[in-house]
Amino acid sequence: MRLPMIAGNWKMNTTVSEAIELVNELRQGLDQIDNVDKVICPPFISLAAVRELIKGSSIKLGAQNIYFEEKGAYTGEISPLMIADLCEFVIIGHSERRQYFNETGEITNKKIRAALKVKLQPIVCVGEKLEENEAGRTEEIVTGQLRASLAGLDYLTGLIIAYEPIWAIGTGKAATAKQANETIGLIRHNIFELYSKRAAQNVRILYGGSVTAANATEFINQPEIDGALVGGASLRANQFLSIVKQAAEAKNRLSG
Ligand code: PGA
Repeated sequence: MRLPMIAGNWKMNTTVSEAIELVNELRQGLDQIDNVDKVICPPFISLAAVRELIKGSSIKLGAQNIYFEEKGAYTGEISPLMIADLCEFVIIGHSERRQYFNETGEITNKKIRAALKVKLQPIVCVGEKLEENEAGRTEEIVTGQLRASLAGLDYLTGLIIAYEPIWAIGTGKAATAKQANETIGLIRHNIFELYSKRAAQNVRILYGGSVTAANATEFINQPEIDGALVGGASLRANQFLSIVKQAAEAKNRLSG
């Protein structure tokens, strides 16, 4: 049984004081929900403050990006070692990184390796554009991104995958739960082909793209979907708490 995960990707939102405020709103409620991995991913500059606030709670911390070198003359970059000092998770290869910052499959792959090396758990994002979806190329694109991301990796321990169709991100137009389940099943099948049955059974695969308190249960109830990567709705404490609760309830139902 894979433990569900709900990860909140705050993106480039919240000042440090706003981040502190949001964590204060979330902390108690989130801490009371069991059977779900609850991860928040604030901007870099808030990580240290947030870490102090969630100490002793069951809330986990993630970063939104890393550079692939451990240290050195890379002005403005943040290294995996720095993040590993504060966080357990890091989002890698988000479509916004690919789209606005020219991150290629090769860069994503380097970042994943760099994260695993320092025992950070990467949340690796893959997903197709609207025109690719409409042209029936979802399978080809997602498989290509996945294989490029994982190239040369011998093991997947700790790695999490997020399927995020680009046309569903921040648009209010989520994929249907059935569509998402199908593509996630396909990703799992690729993991089986590339690694093993055990790896495919163990790897957690999330859906992301316009997940809200109104639709979370539909996704989480799908057999292949292990949780959600939540953008916009993770900035609202009530919404995020509701999504996490729904994941816990779905899991209790499935195991009960
Ligand atoms: P959204 O973003 O929930 O705002 O659509 C999801 C993501 O980009 O991770």
